[in-house]
Amino acid sequence: SGVMAGKRGALIVLEGVDKAGKTTQCNKLVQALQQSGQSVEMMRFPDRTTIIGQLISAYLEKKSDLEDHVVHLLFSANRWEMVPSMKKKLEQGTTLVVDRYAFSGAAFTSAKPGFCLDWCKKPDVGLPKPDLVMFLQLSPAQAALRGQFGEERYEIDDFQRTVQQKFDQLMKDPSVNWQEIDASQSIEDVHREITTHSLNTINTAQNLPLGELWK
Ligand code: TMP
Repeated sequence: SGVMAGKRGALIVLEGVDKAGKTTQCNKLVQALQQSGQSVEMMRFPDRTTIIGQLISAYLEKKSDLEDHVVHLLFSANRWEMVPSMKKKLEQGTTLVVDRYAFSGAAFTSAKPGFCLDWCKKPDVGLPKPDLVMFLQLSPAQAALRGQFGEERYEIDDFQRTVQQKFDQLMKDPSVNWQEIDASQSIEDVHREITTHSLNTINTAQNLPLGELWK
């Protein structure tokens, strides 16, 4: 809200269970928005390049063990450490396309025994609120057709089913601008849908203040 305040960029998040095509679609979206003349950057969480991200990465690769609460808080800290640069970019008019965000954080940890969704959301309360969260929806059966899971922690069928149920619960929250996308369509059809939603959001977000998540 400075004197020279121009139009801000939009915060656009892609979420979904594994194999839904999030990363492919984030890359295609960034390319399409760039080609249409938008200032846009891609981000992903976890961001494995920071010190905190390296702790998370070692945990996911099963090279280290961390207590479940600790790793949850590290995932959240890995988002918070990016907030100053995210806000700066958004204010400068750059749209951010983000591969996973606090919704993955809450869904994955709350799928573990002894964790409730409410506790899991708390550390991320107040993060920059996405202007749009697209959830790439893919049934476990369709995901299975796309091949085996990898070797990382959490890439287990039963666990992913529970994660999907937690995402379903999160999507009932009307304070978040959710768009469900049928990820069983072709890559190009999914891409077209995602691009349309994103362009609409960029247009509406530019005149609105950035919100605070879950607050
Ligand atoms: P990636 O495969 O997109 O790099 O994500 C790595 C794993 O981390 C994936 O299984 C989802 C999980 N995850 C969490 O458990 N909490 C989080 O906050 C995030 C962003 C991801």
